[in-house]
Amino acid sequence: MISWNDYWKTYSTSKAEKWLILERNKILQKYFNIIEGNEKSVIEIGCGFGSNISLLKETLPNCNCFALDNSIEAVNLVKQRIPNTVLADASDTKFDNETFDLVYSSGLMEHFRDEKPLIDEWKRILKPNGIMVTFIPARFSLWQLYQIMHFGNWQHGYEKSYTQKMLIDLFLSNNWKIIDIIGIDPFSMNGFAMKLFNISFQPIWKKSFLKSGYTELCIITKK
Ligand SMILES: C[S@@+](CC[C@H](N)C(=O)[O-])C[C@H]1O[C@@H](n2cnc3c(N)ncnc32)[C@H](O)[C@@H]1O
Repeated sequence: MISWNDYWKTYSTSKAEKWLILERNKILQKYFNIIEGNEKSVIEIGCGFGSNISLLKETLPNCNCFALDNSIEAVNLVKQRIPNTVLADASDTKFDNETFDLVYSSGLMEHFRDEKPLIDEWKRILKPNGIMVTFIPARFSLWQLYQIMHFGNWQHGYEKSYTQKMLIDLFLSNNWKIIDIIGIDPFSMNGFAMKLFNISFQPIWKKSFLKSGYTELCIITKK
């Protein structure tokens, strides 16, 4: 198992990962833009290398960007690009109630056996009209197959994947309202190619009616 501190020390973004980051950014921008207000703030919880929050800051220059991680390596790296980066636990962020217009996480929630303390905390710091976007690995995908084949075990300790139903049930049972669920990477080709060959390509189908077969799922929720 690799600690997050060690992981971020030697991390570099693969070509294909950049593609996923761009796809996530389109979703984040879309929902950031539909939130009403002028001086809007956004936080990435579990920012890691900070690829998405940095890209969001570039594409939305008037967005007040924050980031949080409990890895000191990650925080030191991201602080250079996002000065408002804090070292804290995702389920005890220390921010005031109703601070952020957009709260999002990517690649974080799947590492928790019990998600409730996390999503309760994110609800607490979200403004009443705010939006939360959560990216997690989809259950039935080539990416999951790769993980099982390659690692034999999860690289970062406990990790799970979700079906659309699991996600819907989780958020509804914790009193969130669901705005949308989006699948990223139909047929999960880029997710697979990403680790195996370090390549990515434009998928033949950008939008898909598939119930499964994506690399990631993204659930968009509000209070
Ligand atoms: C898979 S990485 C995701 C990084 C980034 N969001 C991305 O999409 O590339 C998960 C990150 O969550 C952080 N993390 C894990 N548990 C955490 C916790 N309890 N509180 C804050 N951050 C946490 C790790 O340090 C790591 O940087």
